[in-house]
Amino acid sequence: MATKTTWLITGTSRGIGLEFVRQLATSAENVVIASCRNPDAATDLKAIVSKAKGTMHVVPLDVGDLESIKGVEKYVKDIIGDEALDYLLNNAGTHPGEADAFNISPETFITAMNTNVLGPAKLAETLLPYLERSQRPVVMNMSSGLGSFGFDLGPICAAYSVSKTALNMITYKQAKAKPNVIFFAVDPGWVKTEMGGEGAQLEPDVSVSGILKLLKSISLQQSGQYFRHDGSTSPW
Ligand SMILES: NC(=O)c1ccc[n+]([C@@H]2O[C@H](COP(=O)([O-])OP(=O)(O)OC[C@H]3O[C@@H](n4cnc5c(N)ncnc54)[C@H](OP(=O)(O)O)[C@@H]3O)[C@@H](O)[C@H]2O)c1
Repeated sequence: MATKTTWLITGTSRGIGLEFVRQLATSAENVVIASCRNPDAATDLKAIVSKAKGTMHVVPLDVGDLESIKGVEKYVKDIIGDEALDYLLNNAGTHPGEADAFNISPETFITAMNTNVLGPAKLAETLLPYLERSQRPVVMNMSSGLGSFGFDLGPICAAYSVSKTALNMITYKQAKAKPNVIFFAVDPGWVKTEMGGEGAQLEPDVSVSGILKLLKSISLQQSGQYFRHDGSTSPW
């Protein structure tokens, strides 16, 4: 019997997260815990789940809410029992707008930090015991080119950029604190989703298939690093 690989993905109602589920659903070896804020309203997700070859579970999770993060552990425990969680994909994210560093709204800044930084960090902390049961545990933190100093992308999107730079640092800190788990940050490229817009360069399937290759090949020696969707190293 083929060994099962278990994944938990956040923000799967649409966009890049939905595409991860679509690609993983094609293999009977995958057990996918697809989380989203409102499962009842996630019609595209439900359509994929109904036709999946893999084993699919849809669970509620708002990564901007610490109670919701704590609550997801019960679902994970019920689904995987004594087995391991092999992959945690911290994909969910929010974009608080294009304002520069002189026009930051405190409310949207705090929402971005909660959703894009604290949420992924606390979810990894909550699920660490399940990840540590895996032979090769991997945690992906979905970053952005806007979080990179090296790309020099100018003054816009200050709050979002700060949140993704902070997520990159969390990734480094996680890798240093837990050398038995592979952590990495990834820039998916500019992707055609609700967040990326129609003018974006990449189709979601191209970005996601590249990241899936990276997820499957990355080694412990590469833990704590920052990549692009094609597996090349991104400048910090
Ligand atoms: N598209 C791009 O060009 C691009 C570039 C760089 C980085 N990224 C990153 O890639 C990730 C996915 O983005 P996307 O392009 O797929 O964006 P999207 O189409 O706007 O989708 C965002 C997803 O995140 C979910 N989400 C937002 N806040 C959440 C919360 N508090 N709890 C749980 N889920 C939440 C949304 O769920 P709801 O349906 O409930 O709102 C939705 O499923 C994000 O981290 C984003 O920052 C995207």
